Amino acid sequence: MNEKSRIYLDNAASTPIDSAVGEAMMPFLLDHFGNPSSLHEMGRKTTLALSKSRHHVSELIGANSSEIYFTSGGTESNNLALIGYAKIIKKLRPDCNRILVSEMEHESILETVRYLEKDLKFTVDFIQTTSDGFVDLKSYKELLSPKTCLVSVMLVNNEIGTIQPIQTMIEILKKKDYKTLFHSDGVQALGKIPIDVRRMKLDMLSISSHKINGPKGIGALYIRKGICIEPIVYGGGQEMSLRSGTENVYSIVGFGKACEIWKNKIHESNPVIQNLQNYMINRVTTEIPESSINGSLQNRISNNVNFSFKGINGEDLLVKLDEFGIEASTGSACSSNKKKKASHVLKSLGLSYDEISGSIRFSIGSQNTLNELEVAVNVLKDVIHEFRNTN
Ligand SMILES: Cc1ncc(COP(=O)(O)O)c(C=O)c1O
Repeated sequence: MNEKSRIYLDNAASTPIDSAVGEAMMPFLLDHFGNPSSLHEMGRKTTLALSKSRHHVSELIGANSSEIYFTSGGTESNNLALIGYAKIIKKLRPDCNRILVSEMEHESILETVRYLEKDLKFTVDFIQTTSDGFVDLKSYKELLSPKTCLVSVMLVNNEIGTIQPIQTMIEILKKKDYKTLFHSDGVQALGKIPIDVRRMKLDMLSISSHKINGPKGIGALYIRKGICIEPIVYGGGQEMSLRSGTENVYSIVGFGKACEIWKNKIHESNPVIQNLQNYMINRVTTEIPESSINGSLQNRISNNVNFSFKGINGEDLLVKLDEFGIEASTGSACSSNKKKKASHVLKSLGLSYDEISGSIRFSIGSQNTLNELEVAVNVLKDVIHEFRNTN
């Protein structure tokens, strides 16, 4: 079966590169190889390309170009935001040693706060999750304290697609007057929901290119003007001295192009994807007995649906679907190849072990068609029927 005939429904893990993104990148891969730090013509060409891309990225999230710092992706942006700010706080306000995150965060936040706790002696508080997949605002209010230097809560959860009440959380925080910063992991939100960092009063936001039809290994951290953080990579002083190392020019060009494309199509593409999601939800919940959806149907992005099927093992289901050319995932891409690690997100919703092990995530992209969804649901139905009848 060639790649074209497969049905790819794992767009929360990564997306195909848009052909216009590929076209924009090629000249910088093959011809314009100058180092942006060089003062000659070749260098100036790549410097110009960087600043154009910075502009496109900033436009998609309502920031200024000067507030965008390119990194190697969402993971590094999350590390830079949390460690970079913790290092400053440790020196300037050593008493403010608490960091507040949700239980549902991506590993790149959870592992980073574990490091901050272990090596830099911060205390980490975890906001509880409601059974429908949102941060519990009561738990948030209880945990916020004058010692909290940083809150980090994702805009959209990667496993179940729920949109977190970030705006309300920031309003609650601002009323406290604690000088606490608010960082959000926006990796799964970019291109799916409109983001305006200024209107939202976000202090820092992490984003990644490969979730919006751009190349892998490139992302950015938005840092509001006036906020000071320390680098975690030292060297030649690129990215306004926050992220040294010769810039990954052709990937930055691709990321910029992907942002430009999504800025223009965010309002037209997502309703189309939402229709495909609704089609899938309607058919699966009516035609497959003992199936349920994890996470609320309200305040959910258009492309992510996470089901649990009673009596089914999610990994066996994935393997079987893969044999039929259908590509999905069990929750987080980063943990889906680590066998038997139950999803911490579904656990935090209070799901039973059986519900967690019987779960599978389908995430739809702008390249998917109704015909593909039709085939995928038919196969899913047959495979589950067969599993249940043979066990
Ligand atoms: C919510 C979230 N944060 C961070 C990341 C990591 O991003 P990257 O793959 O660009 O390092 C991911 C990737 O799946 C994600 O879903």
